[in-house]
Parts: sequence; C-alpha cells; structure tokens
Amino acid sequence: MYLNSLRIRDLRCLQAIDLEPGPGLNVFVGDNGSGKTSLLEAVYLLSRGRSFRSAPQSRLIRNEAESLSVFSRVQDDDGQPFSIGLERDNEELRFKLSSDPEARLIHLVRAMPVQLLDPTLHALFDEGPSQRRRFLDWGVFHVEHAFYPAWRRYSRALQQRNSALRSHASDQVIHAWDRDILTAATHVDATRKRYVDELNRVLPSFLQRFPNTAEIDIRYTPGWPRDMDYAQALNAGLQRDRQLGYTMHGPHRADLRIRWHGVKAEQRASRGEQKVLICCLMLAQAALLAGQGAKKPVLLVDDLAAELGPQYRQTLLEVITELGLQSFLTCLEETLISEAVEQKRFHVEQGRIARVI
Ligand SMILES: Nc1ncnc2c1ncn2[C@@H]1O[C@H](COP(=O)(O)OP(=O)(O)O)[C@@H](O)[C@H]1O
Ligand SMILES: [Mg+2]
Repeated sequence: MYLNSLRIRDLRCLQAIDLEPGPGLNVFVGDNGSGKTSLLEAVYLLSRGRSFRSAPQSRLIRNEAESLSVFSRVQDDDGQPFSIGLERDNEELRFKLSSDPEARLIHLVRAMPVQLLDPTLHALFDEGPSQRRRFLDWGVFHVEHAFYPAWRRYSRALQQRNSALRSHASDQVIHAWDRDILTAATHVDATRKRYVDELNRVLPSFLQRFPNTAEIDIRYTPGWPRDMDYAQALNAGLQRDRQLGYTMHGPHRADLRIRWHGVKAEQRASRGEQKVLICCLMLAQAALLAGQGAKKPVLLVDDLAAELGPQYRQTLLEVITELGLQSFLTCLEETLISEAVEQKRFHVEQGRIARVI
C-alpha cells in the first residue's frame, strides 16, 4: 500500500502541507529544525494514532493552533483506495477510516502498517526487553491475525490471576485462571516462535549486503525457563508469585536475544554497525509483511545518513529501493543521498515543503 496524498494541518511547525508522494522513494532534504521529522510523525500518527516521540501528544499541535489534522488517500495492495483522516485537539483524538466507519484504533493500525527506522533504533539493543517485544509483536500482529485476540485473552487472564494472587485467593481459584492463561499463552507463544523462524529465514539476505554483519543470531525466549513447559513453570512458581503479588513467568516476559559474532550485539558492534543490524531486522520485518499476503508497509527513515559512512549509506539506500515499498527518507544534506536512485525529492525549509525532483 502507499499514500497517494498527504494533507497536514498544524502539526508542530507544519502549518499547511499538501503533498503527493510517489509510490516508491520520497526523499526530504532540509536543515535542522526544518520539519522533516514532523513530516514522518504525521504519517506515523495516521498509522498508530500517536507519535513516536515521547512528549505529551498535545505538544504535536502547532503553537497557536487548537488542533491538528492529517488526512491521506491510500492505495491499498488490492487496488482499492481508502482514506484515513485524523484530528487531535488538547482533549482527544478522532479518526475516520473510509473503509470502516466503525473503526477503532486497532483497525487503524491494521489498515496501514508503517515501519519506522530512526536514530533511536539502538534502543532495541540497549534497553530492556519491552522494546524488543514491541518490535516482535508488531510484526506478529500484522502477519498472524489470530495473535491479537489471543494476546488480549492472555493479558486479561493474567490480570485476573495477579489480582487473585494479591488477594490471597485459594490455589483452586488461581489454577482456574491458569487454564485460561495457558490456552492463550500457547497461542501467543506459537505465533511468536513461528514468526521469529520466518524472520531468521529472510534476515541473511539483508545482512549479507553489508560487510561484516552476517554473524547475527536471533533467539526467541518465551518468558519462562527453557527446561520446562509453561504449565510446569506456572506451577513451580506459584509460591514465589504469591509472595511477589504478580505472575513472574509468561509471554509478557518474552524477549529476543540478539547476538553478533557470539556476544550481545551492543557489546561489540559500533553505533554504525548497530544501526545497520537493526535496519536489517526492520527491513526483514517489512519484507515478511510484504511477502506474506499481508499489507506492504510504508517505510519511514529519519536521518538515513546519521552514523553511516558512504558505503553503508549507499547499500542501505539500494536495499530500501529494491524492497519496492513506499518510503519517506529524511536527510540533512542534498549530497548524502544519490540522485541516481529513482525518487521524488523535496526540500524542507521552515515548515514548507517543495518538490525539487
Ligand atoms: N508544537 C509546535 N509548534 C510549533 N513548532 C514546533 C512545535 N513543536 C516543535 N516545533 C518546531 O518544529 C521544528 C521542526 O522540528 P523537526 O520536525 O524535529 O525538524 P527536523 O527533523 O527537520 O530537524 C523545530 O524547530 C521545533 O522547534
Ligand atoms: Mg529530525
């Protein structure tokens, strides 16, 4: 799928933007503070209902304005066009999906998968497991439609078990929740495992393009000790869970172990290498989505050139182009992205965007 048009009103410094992006590569060049990241935020907002920057969402509204809006006509992979309109003021977020007048946020997320590669990517290595679970689950969510309902069932049952633990309920009550937890957890675990296998299958074709990156190993850990099944882990941990007042083991503790040349990636790889490794993970995820009859995602790449030398930069650009997805790339300087690659190019200056190629 790709965005045919994009209209932005009052998002940060972007007062009134009307764009017709191309279905392939769209490059946005501009100085610091010109509005490049804000443009990517607009697309991301359409696909998730929130920004990827962590400040309160109301900060997205341009100073002096009361609300922001983003609207796009989207061409779906089956050739059907649909539109997404979104508006937010200080109080609330409203959105409309033309293909589903009753749409809730989850339908919005499903309608338009958007993959973001930005300079905070290394958090996937540096920070705790929740970042990696988010990465994993975003992919699983889009290719395995039964994942989300199972995850919801699991989360609900887990909450119930935790409150039963806190209220010192009998073993019998807790075991009753265990049954619900186990059924949902088995599904969540199986879909995640299958997904990681698929990811490992496509990943080498991306890694091989970059020198010195091939030795990466991604292992899924389900959230309980490897030498037991989940039912055993729940039983074995009951007394400890009672003391803690919550359930220690389960899919809510799953993680991905990413090792590079046999050690944790963040301990060995330079920032540039980390960026390439994570880009490969993200691109493999995008390729899986595009290839599995799911929707072709839109790629947002903020500051493509940051931390990358000419060779990595050029290869990354080639790999992105070959994927054939619609992408929005930002860059500080004209010369950092070769004009030889087919693209639509725009200049961004003080919140204004003009097409140059
Ligand atoms: N709510 C807002 N209203 C107006 N301007 C804002 C708001 N929030 C941020 N800005 C400004 O928008 C400009 C563009 O930011 P950004 O998109 O991050 O630029 P770039 O990515 O091109 O460096 C910055 O100068 C920032 O100060
Ligand atoms: Mg920026």
